[in-house]
Amino acid sequence: MFRNDVLSNFKKDAAAIPHANFTKNKDKHIIASNISLVLPKFLFLVGSKNKLKRFNENETFKNVFQPTREELTENNFALKGNWNTTFFKNNNPLILELGCGKGEYSIALAQKYPNKNFIGIDIKGARFWRGAKTALEEHIPNVAFLRTQIELIDHAFAENEVDEIWITFPDPQIKYKRTKHRMTNSEFIKRYKFILKPEGVVNLKTDSEFMHGYTLGLLHGEGHEVLYANHNVYKQEGSPEEVTSIQTYYESQYLEQNKPITYIRFKIKQ
Ligand SMILES: C[S@@+](CC[C@H](N)C(=O)[O-])C[C@H]1O[C@@H](n2cnc3c(N)ncnc32)[C@H](O)[C@@H]1O
Repeated sequence: MFRNDVLSNFKKDAAAIPHANFTKNKDKHIIASNISLVLPKFLFLVGSKNKLKRFNENETFKNVFQPTREELTENNFALKGNWNTTFFKNNNPLILELGCGKGEYSIALAQKYPNKNFIGIDIKGARFWRGAKTALEEHIPNVAFLRTQIELIDHAFAENEVDEIWITFPDPQIKYKRTKHRMTNSEFIKRYKFILKPEGVVNLKTDSEFMHGYTLGLLHGEGHEVLYANHNVYKQEGSPEEVTSIQTYYESQYLEQNKPITYIRFKIKQ
């Protein structure tokens, strides 16, 4: 009796879902249908739990900084203007990776250049948790991670504090109404100009032909100096070694799909 009630409830639930793979009178199909309904929810819960664990761990990592929006906008972020003296405790060049994801580029560059300081920046703390943990486990002292929106970058770094910027595989934000979120638009370039030293450079690595073309057009239009551009770094020789020797998480996926990877190095007009 009880079993029939359960089965009839399963049938009702499945009938309410148009795509459910429901087969009458066959228990195994009914169970399979219900697994397919429950599994996404289960995976979502496991994912959320992992994220929570990472958020909590980030709080304990000494190489992770997560200022609030208010701290930044009200000029109360103590590291602004003091990254080298307070955290890195040296006067080495300071290099940022914007939208660093899991932080592969920041980590690899930090290992390659121990006499430079690197900061990976992303709004998603659960992603850069990977890079921060690797840096701690492998004792890489010249890399840190900052959780903030790139839109607030000029509140996290002082004027002329930064030597170089890497933008690795940003979302191209192709739709016109998303232009303001494109990380090489005029507004972002102004913020980068503020925090960069006058001789500072910006590197853009992307799989997006649109982003590559948009950025080149904008740089020419605004009179910035393109130092180097390559529309297929693994086919066309001449890119700096660190462009072809390091791959990010997203880049590895694009390479599997045989997508050309592009690169631009530029200086912002003073
Ligand atoms: C396509 S992923 C690339 C991640 C990494 N660079 C890679 O190549 O694997 C873009 C990253 O930029 C971050 N991001 C996008 N817009 C951002 C913003 N306005 N402020 C901070 N992070 C942002 C996302 O959270 C995401 O991790």
